[in-house]
Amino acid sequence: MLNASIILDKDFIVGDVDPRLFGGFAEHLGRHIYGGIYEPDHPGADKDGFRRDVIDLVRELNMPVMRYPGGNFVSGYHWEDGVGPREQRPVRLDLAWKTTEPNQFGANEFVAWCRKVNSAPMLAVNLGTRGPEEARNLVEYCNHTGGSQWSDLRRSHGHTSPHGVKLWCLGNEMDGPWQMGHKTATEYGRVACEAAKLMKWTDPTIELVVCGSSHRGMATFGKWELEVLDHTFNHVDYISIHTYYGNADNDTPNFLAKPDGMSEFIEDVVAMCDTVAAIKKSRKRIMLSFDEWNVWFHSHGDRKKRGIKEWDIAPPLLEDSYTLEDALCVGGMLIALLNHCDRVKIGCIAQVVNVIAPIMTVKGGPAWRQTIFYPFQHASNFGRGRVLRPLITAPRYDCKERKGVPYLMAACVHDPASGGLALFAVNRSLDQKMELRADLRAFDGLCVREWHVLRHDDLRAANTPEAPNTVVPRQATGAALDGSCLSAILEPASWNVIRLARRQQP
Ligand code: AHR
Repeated sequence: MLNASIILDKDFIVGDVDPRLFGGFAEHLGRHIYGGIYEPDHPGADKDGFRRDVIDLVRELNMPVMRYPGGNFVSGYHWEDGVGPREQRPVRLDLAWKTTEPNQFGANEFVAWCRKVNSAPMLAVNLGTRGPEEARNLVEYCNHTGGSQWSDLRRSHGHTSPHGVKLWCLGNEMDGPWQMGHKTATEYGRVACEAAKLMKWTDPTIELVVCGSSHRGMATFGKWELEVLDHTFNHVDYISIHTYYGNADNDTPNFLAKPDGMSEFIEDVVAMCDTVAAIKKSRKRIMLSFDEWNVWFHSHGDRKKRGIKEWDIAPPLLEDSYTLEDALCVGGMLIALLNHCDRVKIGCIAQVVNVIAPIMTVKGGPAWRQTIFYPFQHASNFGRGRVLRPLITAPRYDCKERKGVPYLMAACVHDPASGGLALFAVNRSLDQKMELRADLRAFDGLCVREWHVLRHDDLRAANTPEAPNTVVPRQATGAALDGSCLSAILEPASWNVIRLARRQQP
């Protein structure tokens, strides 16, 4: 048995959680849009052709923001193709994913879908093959009331009220050579600055996310952020940060330690934002938009393995089947995000339906939840409030990529309004239980409300359409409060959420 302890205090505050930390990302990729969100022939489709079962599941995830339409796709996208009468929309080749894009779903359908799933749209503009002009036209189309070319075009498409899209991304992963219209930091910094100016002049109420590096391993990481922010600092509000983890070499202790690298990545990018602020003698703080994060590796090489042809419409791309250990890694990533909520204001799990996704669908059939659905659902629904900095003492282990990894990963969210607490914890030991003692010295009058546990004897267990409930959370008992000391025994390789509520006064 391992022994770990946490000390929590109301005054050890990391920050208040911006609900947008629990957002999603929907790209025109594989079966995300066609067959995922939009399937007009599905027996359960609504009048707009949206799958009702998918809407219900996305609502369970409680995602306040949804990024769209890409991803790599956006860097070649003409947004005008996706608006207006469907029969007049062009069919185009998407060079990002080598598929055919029928354009039967576009910005207006996306905004309508967002309303149904209670999300605010976060739109990315194409700064790959296009530039500031087309970007600001899209802002005008979406957000201007009327009386101008693009706003009147929207009205003629049946949308008399503006969409009021608040959050915009200035392109996607522009540092990556795989990107259509890939740019150097100087080229991108300049174009992003000019696009930002035009977009904010069109609608001064919008907020902008500039592209950071596409991942921490890029050779240009760091230099990219410093130069891009040097150009755009006065015009943007957030910088993007992306990461995907995998366990291709089948080394679970190493895989479960990867979320610690996510924390360091965030801290590196914060340091760069504040370096640029210092150089500019500014107190402005650029916040982080972690708008792509997840586990992604199962589907690598699928195109060849599954014989998926080029230029198909909505082929099954990036359809990772997630295991219990993937859910533990996702849980660790959520803990890393929560513990940095003072600077990470937006997070988008990538993606939401069918494509590296918590939700999967069968064409014409059911929708179901992958293992990673559950930690996200818990964090999104129970992790709103104020994150407290946990003082953790736990035994550690060494693995391939890092030394001294604490077996316990934890975050704690206090809801000052209700007085409740939610403790999120991953026991990363694969074979040992962990006795966790939490010293809640600054809280009295609490009781244990519920304890959700996600675990399975088989780390590789996954949900499938035939057996969708193989890995599901269960309620555990045995968490006890003795005065202000909470104790609980965490199962090996488990995700846990212990919720405490104020005791009812007699
Ligand atoms: O989410 C899948 C892809 O990963 C996105 O299109 C791209 O931005 C990233 O490289």
